[in-house]
Amino acid sequence: MDKTQVLKRAQTYVRTLFENEGTGHDWWHLVRVRNMALRLCEETPGADTFIVELAAWLHDVGDHKFHDGDFEIGPKMVGEQLRLMGAEPEVVGRVMAIVTEVSFKGAGVPTPVSSLESAIVQDADRLDAMGAIGIARVFAYGGSKGSPLWDPEEKPVLHSDSAAYAGSKGSSVNHFYEKLLLLRDRLNTDAAKSIAGSRHAFMLEYLNRFYKEWDGEW
Ligand code: ADP
Ligand code: NI
Repeated sequence: MDKTQVLKRAQTYVRTLFENEGTGHDWWHLVRVRNMALRLCEETPGADTFIVELAAWLHDVGDHKFHDGDFEIGPKMVGEQLRLMGAEPEVVGRVMAIVTEVSFKGAGVPTPVSSLESAIVQDADRLDAMGAIGIARVFAYGGSKGSPLWDPEEKPVLHSDSAAYAGSKGSSVNHFYEKLLLLRDRLNTDAAKSIAGSRHAFMLEYLNRFYKEWDGEW
């Protein structure tokens, strides 16, 4: 198996699949996650960068949000594609495990990782849901689903099961409390934790301003 060839095929496959995505889940999200994952590898000794890069490219294939909350279709599609790309069975298994573990599934749902490579890809994906980009993605996703920016009469829900989280129809601002602001404390690697601090602070500052403008104070 030629690793460079497999990476190239995975990249081409997801570029075609995600190019015209308009839900904050597009091709450039994959580019950012792949670049961040490689950066985390540099700061985290011992990770297999080939597995990390391959899983980063493929991590959103068959996302449950676009398949009726089915969390199994993603890893299945990734496995089929990797075999077609000529990846060895051991590589297929390792990448499928990462794709299974990557997603946030609700405030009260644990998302353990089974390898260092999985820890890194999960962290890179989570960092992209935080900070200025994370804010942009929330409103892009909410808009695509017809969600309101905010509904002051609606309280955030801390979901304790993944199906309820996947079916959540709350406002985009509520999603900050249901996911974004929880991510800082749900990272695995020290490298990701040190990047997350300022992204978290920026989201708090943004919300503070949002509420002030909502009330016409600023
Ligand atoms: P990721 O690709 O980071 O795993 P998801 O696949 O869960 O993230 O969702 C894609 C983007 O849409 C993320 O930035 C996420 O925070 C946002 N998002 C997910 N669910 C909602 C929602 N119900 N309302 C608003 N934004 C959402
Ligand atoms: Ni993602």
